[in-house]
Amino acid sequence: MAKPKFIDDRETLVKLAPVAEAAIERHVFVCNGKSCSKVGSAEVKEAFVRELESRGLRYGKESKGRNPDGTILLTDCGSVGFCSIGTAVLVYPENVWYAQVRAEDVPEIVEKHLIGGEVVERLALIDRRSE
Ligand code: FES
Repeated sequence: MAKPKFIDDRETLVKLAPVAEAAIERHVFVCNGKSCSKVGSAEVKEAFVRELESRGLRYGKESKGRNPDGTILLTDCGSVGFCSIGTAVLVYPENVWYAQVRAEDVPEIVEKHLIGGEVVERLALIDRRSE
């Protein structure tokens, strides 16, 4: 395996990874582990894609239908231990972990939390905002 070349020039790094200078305000992770997949995590992710892209909030390349000025980064993640209570959805920087998320819950999470800054209490099992 080739050793990756270390790049110490920030300008080059940002050119290679524009997300480094993007105006990201929140990062949403949707678990795509085995157990969450069995209870519809792909549909949950798709619902986030629809909600965020229709509002121009999803950060990403224009060529992929996303917005380079978007403020929300949406990615998958592996299992986080909510396997029996999925689908797990994590929102940072608040460090709020939502459990049992269904596709139909996503518009509420987007509207209340991602836009309004108010946690959806009925789904939030972990909320470390005040810790
Ligand atoms: S598979 Fe999603 S938390 Fe374990």
